[in-house]
Amino acid sequence: MNVLVTGGAGYIGSHTALALLEAGHSVTVLDNLTNSSTVALQRVEALSGRPVNFVNGDILDSTLLDTIFSSQSIDAVLHFAGLKAVGESAAEPLTYFINNVTGSLTLCNAMKKANVFNLVFSSSATVYGEPTSMPISEDFETGAPTNPYGRSKLMVEECLKDIAASDSRWCIALLRYFNPVGAHSSGMIGENPSGLPNNLLPFISKVAAGKLKELCVFGDDYPTVDGTGMRDYIHVVDLADGHLKALNRIVKSPGVSVWNLGRGEGYTVLQMISAFENATGCKIPYRVVARRSGDIAECWADTYKAQVELGWTALRTVEDMMIDTWRWIRKNPDGYKN
Ligand code: NAD
Ligand code: UFG
Repeated sequence: MNVLVTGGAGYIGSHTALALLEAGHSVTVLDNLTNSSTVALQRVEALSGRPVNFVNGDILDSTLLDTIFSSQSIDAVLHFAGLKAVGESAAEPLTYFINNVTGSLTLCNAMKKANVFNLVFSSSATVYGEPTSMPISEDFETGAPTNPYGRSKLMVEECLKDIAASDSRWCIALLRYFNPVGAHSSGMIGENPSGLPNNLLPFISKVAAGKLKELCVFGDDYPTVDGTGMRDYIHVVDLADGHLKALNRIVKSPGVSVWNLGRGEGYTVLQMISAFENATGCKIPYRVVARRSGDIAECWADTYKAQVELGWTALRTVEDMMIDTWRWIRKNPDGYKN
């Protein structure tokens, strides 16, 4: 297939672009580079031995989208482009709603004009809000994400359901990611957060690399095994593989399909620290501080639907996630800036 990957220079997009190329698909990446580097795409080309057609631009630019769709025959779109910093979304909700919601609708409009109806959307477990039981299956009610970023994901999901209901040509996958971490085993592509990391494993990695003094553990009074927050961490290479499986499935299934992409197993913050220390031999100094506003106690996936319908299971362990993250960090101490 000829696949347009929006946000393909970013963390998950670059790993998925590589998986697409390795599976024999052709890839055009549209990215405005607000949170990424073209070096990632050069490395994807080097790893796959195949070219990426890169367009530097914005999903909000409908003229550019029309040009992309009219200049080549695109079969499907994997839509990763978006802003994702939860705290920033509370400070700048308009920016998030315009970029993530208006951007997605602009993209859908251009797809419809070009008769391209296969779409895989990067959603998030955040759309489930604060469920009362675990694990979370796809038929759980959505609602009440705790921040504008989460609401932008839920809004796009709702819009896509209406769009698909109005026209049976649409084939849409909503992929609800749990907590993507890790890096490609080559150490050539990985997560490259700018500034102070928001997420746990990038923060642990910076502490291990000596760039930050200690990790702040946000609360140890949650109702979990050791009191710290529990999440379902999933290796980014498994996540990328899940996209390929979803893409292959939706091209034969009109309508909207929803799949959780997680491992189905929760790890607490303290368990993640121990796993990192055991896998890498690095000591992670930490201090327990107050809970972070908006955090939930625990969140992990019921993976049955993805297993049965996509034939997909996450294969990589938490130890693999730690080893691959640490290899990426050691090889690229300044991210893609070296
Ligand atoms: P990322 O920031 O590394 O990648 C997103 C990419 O989109 C970046 O390269 C950025 O430059 C690009 N982009 C942003 N706005 C754009 C626009 N208007 N036009 C063109 N390009 C634009 O983030 P990621 O971790 O790879 O996440 C990819 C997607 O998955 C996002 O939609 C994110 O919300 C979603 N998601 C991520 C996580 C996570 O923890 N990483 C969890 C759930 C969902
Ligand atoms: N945590 C710390 N210290 C840190 C960072 C995180 O203790 O410095 C804890 C958090 O409190 C939480 C766990 O580590 O218990 C994981 O936190 P992350 O920030 O890594 O991930 P979240 O689960 O909060 O959020 C992630 C994505 C969101 C997405 C959400 C969906 O960042 O985009 O998963 O589940 F919406």
